[in-house]
Amino acid sequence: MRRMREDTRPRLQGVPDPAFLIRRMTREDLPAVMALEKASFRNPWSLELLQRELSHDWSIIFLLEEPSSEGGRHLLGISIFWIVHDEVHVLNVATAPEHRRRGVGRALMDATLAEGRARKCCLATLEVRKSNEAAINLYKSFGFRAVGVRPNYYVDEGVAPEDAIVMVLDF
Ligand SMILES: CC(C)(COP(=O)(O)OP(=O)(O)OC[C@H]1O[C@@H](n2cnc3c(N)ncnc32)[C@H](O)[C@@H]1OP(=O)(O)O)[C@@H](O)C(=O)NCCC(=O)NCCS
Repeated sequence: MRRMREDTRPRLQGVPDPAFLIRRMTREDLPAVMALEKASFRNPWSLELLQRELSHDWSIIFLLEEPSSEGGRHLLGISIFWIVHDEVHVLNVATAPEHRRRGVGRALMDATLAEGRARKCCLATLEVRKSNEAAINLYKSFGFRAVGVRPNYYVDEGVAPEDAIVMVLDF
């Protein structure tokens, strides 16, 4: 059953909600994933980019859903990552704005890193905006450490370019 806003049950730190379901994305999920991308990023991934990811053997997109009150499933978050040789490269993690701070991002990162370990990877890497405190905290809580900076990596129309922090986790 969907957890409603007035639910006052305490959330156990670090324990995923038992209603969370994680599965791989398929083409049928494209509209819901596009909507989540648009709600989460100033520069969301395009339909073409997502379609291309679905066709790459090395690319995995995990969706986190929970049962909805209408009887179907509701998309709460996504993670997009590549498995290349012995490395998991995390490209994108996003939680629907109205479901943040419920452990969705943590559950997705957990599943992403578990997939990497299962495929015998020995490290995980990612880039994150210098100002993205929420994401940096999330990654640090898994043991990622900052190893470098890519100056002016994010170039968006109408705003100053922003540096990327490069983070690494050794398994
Ligand atoms: C970053 C993001 C994915 C986190 O998702 P989330 O589902 O809210 O995260 P969780 O509830 O699992 O939180 C896990 C931990 O992340 C950190 N965190 C999450 N949101 C935070 C915030 N607003 N401020 C500070 N730390 C935060 C905390 O350490 C948190 O642990 P805690 O709740 O025990 O304190 C989410 O804020 C998001 O979608 N942001 C927009 C998209 C984005 O920037 N993605 C990252 C691209 S690199």
